[in-house]
Amino acid sequence: MKPVRKAVFPVAGLGTRFLPATKAIPKEMLTVVDRPLIQYAVDEAREAGIEQMIFVTGRGKGALEDHFDISYELEATMRGRGKSLEPLEPTRFPPGAIVSVRQQEPLGLGHAVWCARDIVGDEPFAVLLPDEVMVGQPNCLRQLVDVYERIGGNVVATLEVPPEETHRYGVVDPGKRDGNLTEIRGLVEKPAQGTAPSNLMLPGRYILQPEVMQVLDRKEKGAGGEIQLTDAMAQLIGTQPFHGVTFDGARHDCGEKVGFVIANLALSLQREDMAPAIRAYLANL
Ligand code: UTP
Repeated sequence: MKPVRKAVFPVAGLGTRFLPATKAIPKEMLTVVDRPLIQYAVDEAREAGIEQMIFVTGRGKGALEDHFDISYELEATMRGRGKSLEPLEPTRFPPGAIVSVRQQEPLGLGHAVWCARDIVGDEPFAVLLPDEVMVGQPNCLRQLVDVYERIGGNVVATLEVPPEETHRYGVVDPGKRDGNLTEIRGLVEKPAQGTAPSNLMLPGRYILQPEVMQVLDRKEKGAGGEIQLTDAMAQLIGTQPFHGVTFDGARHDCGEKVGFVIANLALSLQREDMAPAIRAYLANL
């Protein structure tokens, strides 16, 4: 079984739900407490053993690459003032460990992943959607890697949501269940209300076999006229093992405003230096 060494971060979306904030700033650079969203996803991948981070970017997304580059002027000035460079540690990577490719047009998540096909090559890879902040111990991708190392194939994170919300997500048609592991019999992207095969959705963490790229090569459009990753994954079912792992932890959907604000509250309440002041303010409210 080949190890999972590479992770794809689709970051070419327009982020229209956050306009005007995301007009000149990539959505993935929006900050939860003191780290941009992309940093949470990259940290998660690094902790899960990923060696190469592949950003699928678009126009106006250069800040994402700059964030993981050396900032000579900033560092020299900070050194000159005797300030610690420790807060910059998570942004440092060896040359070649962060690569990027452009998705010229935002034709959908499946298309974004397909844009990374030559860099991914012939090995299993992870996909992380950075606007989903997943908080868990071990972290979400690590939970998937642990299962992958036992059973192989395709392993994706799943989460239960209230049935009235399933129309917003990729949803699982479940087979046999064994603890937190669910055999996946089918997948459907954004099912019409009342038609979802379960309330088990895909929150944006995947380990996929490279064959999914061949399915994406066909560029078939799905829900919303977009090339959907869920549809391509669905076509692998039956030809390769496909399992869901119910994530043990908290998910914050930072692609929409309420989830983003809640993530800021939840994560600041986990910080010793901030929690007392935030808690006092909330109690007062
Ligand atoms: P979203 O559905 O959240 O879309 O994409 P979006 O464009 O980022 O945001 P809204 O809906 O306009 O507010 C989920 C993930 O897939 C990426 C996004 O960057 C995000 O990480 N994506 C989506 C792409 O990289 N390319 C696409 O064509 C579509």
